Amino acid sequence: MCVKENATAKQQVYFAFPGIVLVGEGSQLLRKMWAPASLFLVSALLTGRLVAERCPQICICDSIKYQVMCLNKNLTEVPVTIPQLTQRLDLRGNVIKTIAAGTFLPIPYLTHLNLQRCKVERIEEGAFRGLGRLVYLNLASNNIVIIYQESFDGLSSLQQLLLENNHIEEIMPGAFGQLGFLSFLNLARNSLVYLPDMVFQGLQLTKWISLSHNSLNVLADEAFGGLPSLRRLSLDHNELQYLPTEALSRLSGTSRLDVGHNPISYIGEEAIEMASLKQLFLDNMALQDVSHRAFVKSPLLHTLDLHNNQLLVLQPLTEMVHLRKINLTGNPVLCTCYMRPFKEWAAKKRIHADVVCAGPVLFRGEHLESLRTTDMKCRDHALEEKLLPSVATIPRGSEVDAVKCPKGCTCSLDSQHANCGHKKLQSIPKGFPSNTQLLDLRHNEFHSIPKGSFPDLKNLTSLHLQNCKIATLQPGAFQDLKHLVYLYLSNNNISSLDAAVFNGLIQLTYLYLDHNGFTQMPEGAFRLLPNLLALHLQHNSIRQLSENAMAGMEKLRWLYLTGNRVAQVSPKALSHAKMLEKLHLDENSLQEVPTKALRGLPILSELKLSKNPIKYIGDGAFFPVARSLQHLYLDNMGLEQISSDAFTGLGPRVKSFYLEKNKMHRVPDLHNFTALEAINLSDVPFHCDCQLLPLRKWLDKLNLRVGATCDTPADVRGQKVKLVTIFQNCPGWSIKKAKQTSSAESKTKTRRSSSKRQRAGNVQLRGNKKNKAVKKGKQ
Ligand SMILES: *[C@@H]1O[C@H](CO)[C@@H](O)[C@H](O)[C@H]1NC(C)=O
Ligand SMILES: *[C@@H]1O[C@H](CO)[C@@H](O)[C@H](O)[C@H]1NC(C)=O
Ligand SMILES: *[C@@H]1O[C@H](CO)[C@@H](O)[C@H](O)[C@H]1NC(C)=O
Ligand SMILES: *[C@@H]1O[C@H](CO)[C@@H](O)[C@H](O)[C@H]1NC(C)=O
Ligand SMILES: *[C@@H]1O[C@H](CO)[C@@H](O)[C@H](O)[C@H]1NC(C)=O
Ligand SMILES: *[C@@H]1O[C@H](CO)[C@@H](O)[C@H](O)[C@H]1NC(C)=O
Repeated sequence: MCVKENATAKQQVYFAFPGIVLVGEGSQLLRKMWAPASLFLVSALLTGRLVAERCPQICICDSIKYQVMCLNKNLTEVPVTIPQLTQRLDLRGNVIKTIAAGTFLPIPYLTHLNLQRCKVERIEEGAFRGLGRLVYLNLASNNIVIIYQESFDGLSSLQQLLLENNHIEEIMPGAFGQLGFLSFLNLARNSLVYLPDMVFQGLQLTKWISLSHNSLNVLADEAFGGLPSLRRLSLDHNELQYLPTEALSRLSGTSRLDVGHNPISYIGEEAIEMASLKQLFLDNMALQDVSHRAFVKSPLLHTLDLHNNQLLVLQPLTEMVHLRKINLTGNPVLCTCYMRPFKEWAAKKRIHADVVCAGPVLFRGEHLESLRTTDMKCRDHALEEKLLPSVATIPRGSEVDAVKCPKGCTCSLDSQHANCGHKKLQSIPKGFPSNTQLLDLRHNEFHSIPKGSFPDLKNLTSLHLQNCKIATLQPGAFQDLKHLVYLYLSNNNISSLDAAVFNGLIQLTYLYLDHNGFTQMPEGAFRLLPNLLALHLQHNSIRQLSENAMAGMEKLRWLYLTGNRVAQVSPKALSHAKMLEKLHLDENSLQEVPTKALRGLPILSELKLSKNPIKYIGDGAFFPVARSLQHLYLDNMGLEQISSDAFTGLGPRVKSFYLEKNKMHRVPDLHNFTALEAINLSDVPFHCDCQLLPLRKWLDKLNLRVGATCDTPADVRGQKVKLVTIFQNCPGWSIKKAKQTSSAESKTKTRRSSSKRQRAGNVQLRGNKKNKAVKKGKQ
């Protein structure tokens, strides 16, 4: 009773509507029950006139906190009768398309203004004039396209300006000129492509600007001029192809820079000149090469995150005396003799380097620090040797060639990149600088690639030919590219490959043939690629994998066949690819797990079968790969039944297991899956009866979000398996009590019963019943 009254009183005070009456009542109650609050109230009454003021009908006015809330009311303009002394105005979820000049002049005491999700399209110049006390302005999730020069005039105290999730394409010069106290500017999730010179001028005290999730491609050299206090800059998730060295060099006080998730493939010498930089994030890019002198002009660098790139090797960054952490996980690092200098340097300087080896086979999955330097050898031929050219240091402004470059293309001597993308070219240009390492020819109209198309590009490592309407590759098309490691042919119209097409590509490691017109595996052609490691064939129309599908792919580790029409896999289809680690067969037409074809894949660690019409999984379906499998995807298949021995052999090695969106009513015993880091059982119509008790008990001990929900019986539909009480009546329910029976006799019984558990749920129930009987007898 008492509690209820208290609640009512609070409500009246905090959400008081116009008029003194409610507040008066509240105060009486409060004075009795909640003395500290009544103090506020008295002071509010003393301040006097606010409470008597008007409040727009549709809003909630809190006269204590000087706060007005008009949430989700479809208001088309800011209401005119807001109390003059209001400090916080929350207008989220309305339809205020234009914020007109002078809108807030009647309420000059605002400190916080929230206009999120108001479909704002336009902010007139002078819209916020008069708000000299405003410290927080939230305009996120609107439809703003342009920031005009005087959009934010008058906001001389503003500290936080949130503009994320709009459609901003353009910021006029001087737009932030009057925001001398702004500390945080959020421009994330907009449509910025370009930043002009001095765009942030005036932001004298700004500490953090976020430009994440835009489409930034070009930054003017002075784009970051006039930001003397900036400590942190977020440029991640953009379209930068090179580090904007010059622009960043203006940020002499910035200590943290995020550039992850940009399509940058190479970082050259002295690429970042930021005197105070301590933390640098270059993760999830396309980095194939990082100069060991890339950061020497940022001498204070402490943390360098390079995770999820394509680096095979990294030289020691010997000049970086403050460096303490480097993250290289998710790179195909080869722990051979070429990584020795790095390892020795990291150990000597006590740098925490997170490096997991992708090769050689012997060290795959090992942490670099756990290896002995003397074991890191280069006995293996080709695969390692091709690294040398790509890691060699490149002299800046090389004087070897005067810059020659085919007409219409751009060639950079510095980065050794050449670019002729989006040029409607009909034939491959000739005459690139002979030291070019990356050649970008995307989005042209070549239709066919003739023999010898790339003469004199002996050092080319990466060739981009995506979206070029290519239907045929003639034999010898790539014959001169002895150092090519990456070949991108995605999004073309290739449906077959001549056996001699890849002649000469002895170093090729990554081949992208996804989104083409293959209806069968292009057999034979891959024999010429002795070092092929990753083959992308997803989104073609391949119908089957026949006996010789993988001939010549002895070194292949990753095979991507997502989104084809594979309905059949011959038992010997994969037998040539003994080094296979990842096999993606999701989104195909398989009706059963291709168990026989998994034989002879001793190191397969990831298998994706999601979205195949597999209704039933039988005994031992994954047994051939049980000793190596770590990630198993069986989601979205329409699975109706899984036999109780389906997962035989799988257990403590499995780290992730996806079974969501299927139709079976139960799953086999999962007690042997002791090392899971992720498991998803959501959208499975579990039948929650005593047969499901083992799952429930297992879930009770698992510290992961699983998402298992009961579908039947009807009275528990929608409830979490982990929370339903339905199991409490099942024999063997109490875990605690079972533990208490620790006599030798009951132990042996439990062991015996658990070994039979898999064969039939009933046996286990009986076993548990026995335990219970033993325990009861003891009591
Ligand atoms: C706002 O408009 C939407 C769509 O017209 C309507 O569904 C909703 O009920 C309206 N809300 C209010 C508070 O009037
Ligand atoms: C390196 O990055 C990976 C991926 O984000 C992360 O899981 C790991 O913890 C990082 N290592 C260190 C030492 O921070
Ligand atoms: C190719 O790279 C090697 C090793 O970095 C270098 O010595 C050679 O000069 C380069 N060739 C050309 C044509 O630039
Ligand atoms: C792709 O090639 C097929 C024949 O292989 C042809 O019928 C089709 O028109 C081509 N499509 C395009 C977009 O060129
Ligand atoms: C769990 O692993 C043990 C030891 O490998 C095995 O004997 C047992 O049958 C497995 N249990 C299940 C349910 O797979
Ligand atoms: C599990 O799968 C469901 C359905 O696909 C998805 O919505 C959910 O995010 C997943 N949960 C986890 C933890 O991955």
